[in-house]
Amino acid sequence: MSAPPANPPLNLTNIQGDILSGLPKKTQFYIFFDIKDVAKFRADLVKFVPIVKTVAQVLKDRDDIADHKRRGLPGLIPMVGVNIAFSHTGFQKLGIDDSTLTPLGDNDPFKIGQKRDAVTNLGDKTRSDGQPDWDEKFLKDLHGIILISGESHASIEKKKLEVEAIFHVHTPKASIQEIATIRGDVRPGDQSAHEHFGFLDGISNPQVLGFDKVFNPGPKPVDPGVVLTGETGDPAARADWAVDGSFLAFRYLFQEVPEFDQFLKKNPLAKDGDGKDLTPQEGSDLLGARTVGRWKSGAPIDVTPFKDDPALAADPRRNNDFAFQGEINSQLRCPFGAHVRKTNPRNDLEVPPAPINPIPIEKRRIMRRGVQFGPEVTREEKISGKTQHGRGLLFACYQSHIENGFQFIQQSWANSKTFPPFETQPEDPGLDPLIGQGVREMSGLDPLNEQKVLSLPDFIIPRGGEYFFSPSIKGLKNTI
Ligand code: HEM
Repeated sequence: MSAPPANPPLNLTNIQGDILSGLPKKTQFYIFFDIKDVAKFRADLVKFVPIVKTVAQVLKDRDDIADHKRRGLPGLIPMVGVNIAFSHTGFQKLGIDDSTLTPLGDNDPFKIGQKRDAVTNLGDKTRSDGQPDWDEKFLKDLHGIILISGESHASIEKKKLEVEAIFHVHTPKASIQEIATIRGDVRPGDQSAHEHFGFLDGISNPQVLGFDKVFNPGPKPVDPGVVLTGETGDPAARADWAVDGSFLAFRYLFQEVPEFDQFLKKNPLAKDGDGKDLTPQEGSDLLGARTVGRWKSGAPIDVTPFKDDPALAADPRRNNDFAFQGEINSQLRCPFGAHVRKTNPRNDLEVPPAPINPIPIEKRRIMRRGVQFGPEVTREEKISGKTQHGRGLLFACYQSHIENGFQFIQQSWANSKTFPPFETQPEDPGLDPLIGQGVREMSGLDPLNEQKVLSLPDFIIPRGGEYFFSPSIKGLKNTI
């Protein structure tokens, strides 16, 4: 662990909690709302802002929880937190000029909204009427989102009632209308922190200068302005009220888990990259690890390509310390298209031939949050290999520019069969095997036959989403 580089301190009491620190969560409500009455909403917001959890409060909660554990005290410390964010249509409804949030004008993803972006740039499937093939509730204009996060269903239910009372929901004085409420839950038992395909998630998030105190080896730390608007490293000129906020890209992503498992079972690798024979189970596990770029334990295959290493996975000083070094033209250890290599190509873009990324790779980093939704896979689903119950990821990520972060990663990396481009390599990497939208093919899955291309069914299906802006506390108090 190295000493943190100097950077101006951030005002942690002014920044909403989920952005830098991640609201502590076992369970979360994502409440999508419309503003019904602007004057009433403003009056109600005054009562709501004091319950918004800031980064400073999240850090204090964490200290309290650690202290509680250290002293061996019984029970749980309540840690319910609430955050709020608005879409462009929400700002329009409020009569707020958000032009400094949309430097790309009519092409700005925040301005056009994700419904249009899904069709024009993200590659989502469309219906005959030209709308994305999403759930109806996401085809409406959503003015905002309220996030409620906590340690138990009882505590988030209670907080939801408190929030609804503030906005007089379900009464004639209601200032907002709930369009959709989705509950997400961390998965049970030893699958906690693992997404529904079974892989440990939330390992590689950017380390932020001026915020993080300990820097683990891995990708270079980023300027706070990569995540926060108006901070050092954000090139755009923001209005005062829009400083210390962040764009929240939300995606409602369904995962076809039995189908993914069947795919791995039907296509086991016969040998690993050293030519060692594999059992069918080992062959399926290796194939799965090569689609993600990590073993289910979280261990990176760039470091331990053919054998899982749970001890490495559990060590934060080692589990993110890799850069596809020395294999810029090789898929032996990790396929070019593996989800983590596509979404954070690390050294692939640092070395020639690389006038392919006009801005430094650090500016493409996103702060991933989100939580799983839906039940565990049932016995019937395992046997049939067919999804019968909806489940997946309430994907959420923060960044200071959607066009540099989420939108770029999805459109220009995950959906591009030629990314990352290596002139000396005959085969195209193919799409991101998890999130890539389009003709889903990928090379490099077989380490001994890198050119071999495998067709991939859809494993992840987008059914909704929106872009929101999560303002600072000052912004909420003085402008909104
Ligand atoms: C990393 C799963 C959607 C971007 C990961 C990891 C897993 C995973 C297992 C490795 C653990 C880690 O490094 O934290 C999934 C699943 C998804 C999904 C199951 C959908 C259901 C997305 C989307 C994006 C994205 C939509 C952005 C467009 C990333 C990034 C990383 C990552 C940037 C970190 C890469 C790194 O720094 O090494 N994801 N992901 N993911 N994912 Fe996803």
